[in-house]
Amino acid sequence: KKPKNHILVIFGASGDLTYRKLVPAVFDLYNKDLLPEKFAILGVGRTEFADDEFRTKMKEGIQEFANTSKEKGCEKNIESFTNKLYYYSLNTKEEAEYKDFKHHLFQLDEKLKTDHNFIFYLATPPSLYTIIPEYLAKQGLNIEDDGFRRVIIEKPFGYDLQSAQALNASLLQNFAEDQLYRIDHYLGKETVQNLLVTRFSNGIFEPLWNRNYVSHVEITSAESIGVGNRGGYYEGSGALRDMLQNHLLLLASIIGMEPPALINSNSIRNEMVKVLQSIRPIKEEDVEKHVVRGQYVPSTIKGVKVKGYRDEKGVDPESRTETYVAMKFFIDNMRWADVPFLIRTGKSLPTRVTEVVIHFKHTPHHLFSEHSTIMQQHNQLVIRIQPDEGLLLKFGMKVPGSGFNVQNVNMDFHYSELSDDYLPGAYERLLHDCMLGDATLYSRGDAVEAAWKFVEPIQKAWVNNPDIPVHGYPAGTWGPDIADSLFEDEHLSWRYPCKNLANDGN
Ligand code: BG6
Repeated sequence: KKPKNHILVIFGASGDLTYRKLVPAVFDLYNKDLLPEKFAILGVGRTEFADDEFRTKMKEGIQEFANTSKEKGCEKNIESFTNKLYYYSLNTKEEAEYKDFKHHLFQLDEKLKTDHNFIFYLATPPSLYTIIPEYLAKQGLNIEDDGFRRVIIEKPFGYDLQSAQALNASLLQNFAEDQLYRIDHYLGKETVQNLLVTRFSNGIFEPLWNRNYVSHVEITSAESIGVGNRGGYYEGSGALRDMLQNHLLLLASIIGMEPPALINSNSIRNEMVKVLQSIRPIKEEDVEKHVVRGQYVPSTIKGVKVKGYRDEKGVDPESRTETYVAMKFFIDNMRWADVPFLIRTGKSLPTRVTEVVIHFKHTPHHLFSEHSTIMQQHNQLVIRIQPDEGLLLKFGMKVPGSGFNVQNVNMDFHYSELSDDYLPGAYERLLHDCMLGDATLYSRGDAVEAAWKFVEPIQKAWVNNPDIPVHGYPAGTWGPDIADSLFEDEHLSWRYPCKNLANDGN
């Protein structure tokens, strides 16, 4: 499906996000013939660029980062695509400059016949998320009488509940909710969307997806890299804000939601927000019991010394910022009452993997236990979000030979086995949806606020109670061992998709 003719205005066009993600993603759309006939990108930033300079720089970004730029014969398409790129230099904090900007935008629109449709993408520092929409609105660029006007807002959406509420309020003063597209790139992932299909289109899963059959749910998002050059940003964020409040709670809401009445943005987002609103709040005084935070310390991985977080560039040598967080929570509703949800995320772990594991309860009667020398594991459905996207079902089989030993075996599907296994990138999918006016895969204001509300007591407890430990874990290991204590049953622990890489942290 092709969107209407329009101009995509990117604020923060000289930044990394535009270079590495946004323009390459739009190029992929172009390459697959998914852009309208009349289309342009207008990059806006403080740095002075001529159109040609901007095009040359973006060309490099496309060649390096676009999924499809290595395809045969692509050079010609890169050339014709970059001709659709323009640049305008603007001091975004100066209200007076927006009048000329508007004039320029309308001139370009007239020249290219893009039908007065505009998308404004805020790929800027968060401090500009209120200013730019306000100044656009002051120029009437929020009014949709002659074409559409949409605003895409990058993460982080707020720093805590209060700032997220203030940001929502400010945006809503200038634009209507259906003009606002809050990005969470996890929703753009093909495998995250597939969660809906796995759940709601399979007669073998759907009836089991509740407290009667599910013992607990585990969500892991691990990264093997440390914070690298992002120490400055990360110091003010930490794993709770950077990953858990947004990406992981969003995954939890898709795992937990009721079937939507319809496949449209309001129906789906209504169900997602209900889950977030039903998560039992963790009281400030209970935080230490339900939440574990950690920070990677120096270690040796395969003979090579690896930095600890406090040695990273831009990080306070005494920093208490968490690079790992694990927690247990409950969703207080009919479907999930008393089913623990265990979620964890961290940097400098042994591998990069995001997965959801649904652990099913045992059969009510253990028929074979007396005849088996092996303790049978739960049946598990492992949904691999990335990498090696796919689905793994683990179920018990008789071990050949005498007795009735039961052992879990695997049925494993990999997306890479599909004949056409091209998985569109998250930004590619999300940008295309916004161009089509479909906000289903964007976060709604109430959902963002509900997620902040849930993490608020945790943030407060960590600030108000310095005795809550930040557990050190050697870089390349699965985080603090104490995170296993979140499981109520001593026989249970996190799934470890691969072994620790570090030896003892020495
Ligand atoms: C971003 C975080 O939102 O998500 C990063 O700011 C993190 O710290 C990234 O590395 C992970 O995204 P993905 O798609 O690689 O799982």
